[in-house]
Amino acid sequence: MPRLGDVETASKYMYIETQTFSGLTIEKAKFVDLKGIYKSKYEQFIDKLENPKYTNKIDNITNIDNLSYADCIKKYDSKYTFFYCDPPYFNMEDYYTKEFGHDEHLKLSETLKSIKGKFALSYYDFPLLSKWFPKSKYNWQEKAFNRQNSSKKVGTAKGKEILILNY
Ligand SMILES: C[S@@+](CC[C@H](N)C(=O)[O-])C[C@H]1O[C@@H](n2cnc3c(N)ncnc32)[C@H](O)[C@@H]1O
Repeated sequence: MPRLGDVETASKYMYIETQTFSGLTIEKAKFVDLKGIYKSKYEQFIDKLENPKYTNKIDNITNIDNLSYADCIKKYDSKYTFFYCDPPYFNMEDYYTKEFGHDEHLKLSETLKSIKGKFALSYYDFPLLSKWFPKSKYNWQEKAFNRQNSSKKVGTAKGKEILILNY
């Protein structure tokens, strides 16, 4: 059984995190009246934690590491390993942590290109991406999505998610 840390702080953090919409920081978020009709994101999240569709998968997780991607890949890479990488958005690294500097995107791409295992890497497109992962060599899957209201400007309501696979 894994040892749990500070559960009270974790639950407060989770509550705040689940009250903001994608692309909004907590400081900029506004009050949304759910009118007693709609479930809050917090309640939706709790429902998921109780739903067998998800709990059956969660119960099968035997180990969780908190490592930088470089150490994680070094530790687990083998021909039987699958890595899903969802790095900070390009040019938005400050959103997350100072540890993931701009150069880190190139380093991550070089690391992934050298592994024995399989990877799926998600990004929003940027010009260097197809230079690092040529479309002729890697499997690019693209999906259009509707941006949240907060980032809706003329002509930018649709975004494109990219998934790059080495298989
Ligand atoms: C686009 S978000 C991914 C969000 C995640 N898929 C989720 O659903 O919560 C980028 C994540 O990369 C993490 N990150 C930053 N530097 C990292 C590093 N060196 N190694 C691994 N993850 C890192 C950030 O903390 C952040 O959670």
